[in-house]
Amino acid sequence: MSTTSPSTSATTATSSAPLLAVRDLQVHFPTQDGVVKAVNGLTFDVERGKTLGIVGESGSGKSVSSMAIMGLHRGTNAKIEGEIVLDGVNLLDISAEEMRKKRGREVSMIFQDPLSAMHPYYTVGNQIAEAYRVHHDVSRKIAKQRAIEMLDRVGIPNPDKRVNDYPHQYSGGMRQRAMIAMGLINDPNLLIADEPTTALDVTVQAQILDLLQDLQREFNSAVIIITHDLGVVAEMADDVLVMYAGRAVEYGPCKEILTHPEMPYTWGLLSSVPDLTGDTDARLIPIPGNPPSLLNPPSGCAFHPRCPHRDKVPGDLCRTQLPMLVPGQRGEMHTKRCHLPNADAIYAAEVLPVIAPDLAEEL
Ligand SMILES: Nc1ncnc2c1ncn2[C@@H]1O[C@H](COP(=O)(O)OP(=O)(O)OP(=O)(O)O)[C@@H](O)[C@H]1O
Ligand code: SF4
Ligand SMILES: [Mg+2]
Repeated sequence: MSTTSPSTSATTATSSAPLLAVRDLQVHFPTQDGVVKAVNGLTFDVERGKTLGIVGESGSGKSVSSMAIMGLHRGTNAKIEGEIVLDGVNLLDISAEEMRKKRGREVSMIFQDPLSAMHPYYTVGNQIAEAYRVHHDVSRKIAKQRAIEMLDRVGIPNPDKRVNDYPHQYSGGMRQRAMIAMGLINDPNLLIADEPTTALDVTVQAQILDLLQDLQREFNSAVIIITHDLGVVAEMADDVLVMYAGRAVEYGPCKEILTHPEMPYTWGLLSSVPDLTGDTDARLIPIPGNPPSLLNPPSGCAFHPRCPHRDKVPGDLCRTQLPMLVPGQRGEMHTKRCHLPNADAIYAAEVLPVIAPDLAEEL
């Protein structure tokens, strides 16, 4: 097993090995209609105590990738290749029993819709306590006490009473808090939060994000936050991975990607965020067209049918040749998958003046 990056990798440089190193991950689903190529050649790192934001439209492979890290494709017909190295162990090499011991304890996940992720017939407290007992040889009474402590920590009022409620008796925000309690009860090194706030109103969303940040500091967990929302990424993430059609298309430090994006798809995501810069003159421009089918993805750059900048690339490269993930114009830390030769200048001259005129004037 090796944690060495392939030549197209996009690792964030550190002196020590990252907590999670995903290398050239591929997840394909054979179906009656053909092979769904959900994730292709995905490489990224998550450092201890840091947050990686994974962003992309629906169907870009965000959840399939995180389910691979959790070992949740085991026992299905998914074809998985590459490496998922967590704390020095390639999770794709270990047995189902070894994975079961790690799931919840070393890596855990909170889902977009806690109502469907929680069992309706058991109390919230029972489910949190059982998640604890899977990894700790303690009585039900002690596990319930631990569940009450965690409910209290995530801000559930009267936790000693609410521990006995069923999921449907909680509000959406409380259910998400309870899911976070369940995700953190075993103090995992890595927490994956898959769209944890999408179903919640804006105020509750902000509270949940604050809570996640507080708990991350307290538990020193690494976090992967999956979202459609670049505003969430801007607030939470140290690094950002932008996915399109099952591939990384831009990757690097959050501040760098948000201020100097070099891939037109990222420009499209930024253009469709209402208040990222707080600039009221900025225009909201949805990305034209729809995400592609992963059964028959477009040739060359998968974004080419929707890309307004493809004519700036000489020849027919965008349609015929898959761009490699290579360092951007501002250094190794920032990688992008695009044939455009002078992306930084195009962004400053053509994109920024439209989406954030004030920022463009400052340049
Ligand atoms: N078990 C499966 N069999 C076949 N195709 C699948 C399976 N699971 C996921 N897919 C496909 O893989 C692709 C990626 O799905 P994924 O759930 O990772 O998207 P996502 O980026 O999380 O989207 P969303 O933002 O809507 O949650 C989709 O085209 C989806 O239909
Ligand atoms: S490679 Fe071509 S089509 Fe793809 S994002 Fe870059 S310019 Fe657009
Ligand atoms: Mg998803």
